Amino acid sequence: MSATDTVRSSATVHEDRTVLEAADLHVKYYGAPTEAVTGVDFRLTRGSCIAFVGETGSGKTTSVLAATRLLEGAAITAERLAFGGQNLLGMPGKELRELRRRSIGMVFQDPTASWNPTRAISSQLLGTTPRKERPEMREKLLTLCDRVGIKNAAAKIDSHPYQLSGGQLQRFMIAGALLHDPVLLVADEPTSALDTSVQAELIDLLDELRRERDLGVLLVSHDLGVVARMAGEVIVLFRGDVVEQGTVAQVVGAPEHPYTRSLLASSLGMTGPRKTRLRTDAGWSPEATVEATS
Ligand SMILES: Nc1ncnc2c1ncn2[C@@H]1O[C@H](COP(=O)(O)OP(=O)(O)OP(=O)(O)O)[C@@H](O)[C@H]1O
Ligand SMILES: [Mg+2]
Repeated sequence: MSATDTVRSSATVHEDRTVLEAADLHVKYYGAPTEAVTGVDFRLTRGSCIAFVGETGSGKTTSVLAATRLLEGAAITAERLAFGGQNLLGMPGKELRELRRRSIGMVFQDPTASWNPTRAISSQLLGTTPRKERPEMREKLLTLCDRVGIKNAAAKIDSHPYQLSGGQLQRFMIAGALLHDPVLLVADEPTSALDTSVQAELIDLLDELRRERDLGVLLVSHDLGVVARMAGEVIVLFRGDVVEQGTVAQVVGAPEHPYTRSLLASSLGMTGPRKTRLRTDAGWSPEATVEATS
């Protein structure tokens, strides 16, 4: 990283260590009859992690992508949406792309779907780096690969995705996400497609990186077990509505809402890398929630 990068990176963080702030965030996909997210509020600070949980289709991905202005094809409105004090809603496209490139790292769910099968890992991770900076960034990437636990990365980095395991690909994705020293990491189901033992290792790794690099992390997970390992605050979504929000101790330790309790029961019963469908035999049903929240 150059000295200019350091200055720009730290300048994007508000003095009070707030990385990203959203107030009354709403999202409506163009053509959809209703809003996918109907009023999310949070303030993410350096070194902390906010987790979004909820069953499939509840609006987790939509919330984090809209909050970072990475979402296409939808109207995003908010009372406030600010990154390090800068208003994201009015930001011109070019400035927004530059801010995202320098300050936001992304880790997505499915390692095989996230990679282009026809291009080497190195070219995908360094693709946006200007040619003259590539040798330096490649060295930096190799150091990061070492940090995220890829053994002998120099021999693997020019491989194609199909030559590597899902766990290795996800480690490369994490290394790539850190390349520009972001202040914010968005991790959308970062371990859900992996074997259980690899899942635990990677969650611990992300948690260490959060502390080491003072990263603000937006974590998406349907698994409250994963959330409890890493997050400080939890936002529980159901059909785009926030049904419960608070610290991990409150939400996971003593959930108040029946939907959160069902989700917890469902997470505890989870044994493999699959999508959890909500168990309605845990004493909760969507209809009951609609009644409870209306
Ligand atoms: N591109 C899109 N266009 C229209 N509607 C969409 C689009 N993407 C998502 N949706 C809808 O928005 C709602 C929220 O979807 P979202 O992908 O945010 O859920 P999620 O909680 O991340 O689910 P999952 O656990 O399956 O990833 C769903 O009803 C979904 O069908
Ligand atoms: Mg999602």
